[in-house]
Amino acid sequence: MPAPLAGLIDAAWQRRAALHSAPHTTAYRLINRAADGFPDLAVDRYGDALVAHVYSAGAVVDPPMRVLRLLAERAGAQSVYVKYRPAQANALDENLRANLAPATPVLGQAVERITALENGLRFEIRPGDGLNPGLFPDMREVRAWVRSVSAGKTVLNTFAYTCGFGVAALVGGAARALNLDISRRILDWGERNYTLNGLHAVKTDFVAGDVFDWLRRFARRGQRFDIVILDPPSFSTTRASRFSVERDMAGLVALAAAATQPGGWLVAATNHHQISPRAFRARVNEGLAQTSARIVRTLHEPETDFPVAAGAQPYLKVLICQIAPAPRTTGRRLPQKD
Ligand SMILES: C[S@@+](CC[C@H](N)C(=O)[O-])C[C@H]1O[C@@H](n2cnc3c(N)ncnc32)[C@H](O)[C@@H]1O
Repeated sequence: MPAPLAGLIDAAWQRRAALHSAPHTTAYRLINRAADGFPDLAVDRYGDALVAHVYSAGAVVDPPMRVLRLLAERAGAQSVYVKYRPAQANALDENLRANLAPATPVLGQAVERITALENGLRFEIRPGDGLNPGLFPDMREVRAWVRSVSAGKTVLNTFAYTCGFGVAALVGGAARALNLDISRRILDWGERNYTLNGLHAVKTDFVAGDVFDWLRRFARRGQRFDIVILDPPSFSTTRASRFSVERDMAGLVALAAAATQPGGWLVAATNHHQISPRAFRARVNEGLAQTSARIVRTLHEPETDFPVAAGAQPYLKVLICQIAPAPRTTGRRLPQKD
């Protein structure tokens, strides 16, 4: 084995020392592409399983077995799965998707389901099930933020995927979390995550439908939430809508702001590499232009396990927007006329 390879793996491993010894977090990134010296490879750890993402623009190539073997040894992993990242995931047909996400591991034993921890929250990971195994570790600090502000609040989790934000909100004491996603299968997975965390899964809090459609519905009904989470995929096509972050984020933010209570928070996020932090902020501000909201905080991927390569910018852009509180009515009586 050439020394530089071992050296790179060692440096990546050392950098994450705090996470290796964190007893409440077993889901995090071990290799983050160019920043760790592997431009076409990212590897996530979910407890005893590793999931490697090979950035091959949708081609099934030879996986970097030497790197994966060394990493698996170092992590004491039982299995290693590989996903070949396509240029645009929503445009894939089922056969192609299956080729890019083999159901069997390239190393070790098959494991259908595994429970991974994030700050003590439990998530069901299915390492061989599709391109994404159930939890995006780059959102760890955003889930922690949602958990920290949710006590007593109502939360709308759009593009909910496996309901990670819904779990974080309820564990943080939310009065209600409504998870909205186009895929019933994915929402069922979210219900499993509720159960794993001892949360009661109320059927009506898992709505399978189109986010655009539902945001309009909430507006018509005048239904609003204290916290709205908006983390769409970069591109999406459903029967009811077609979406691209670059083209449509402003309109989506405007719809979501209308579903947010005065004084509440709207969390607008994207992991789209092709849009700069500045351009994303401009889209979000455009969506907020007709509202009383402003961006109050910015979050990115966690530095420890998602280092940013020299000269690059963070790819995860999370803007926390606050809607102005409703004007206070003083309750003072108007002076009476004689
Ligand atoms: C990037 S994932 C969201 C990740 C999630 N916010 C999290 O942090 O775990 C995108 C999700 O959006 C869903 N989706 C895509 N287009 C949609 C639409 N128009 N309406 C509702 N859900 C949609 C997909 O089924 C998928 O679960």
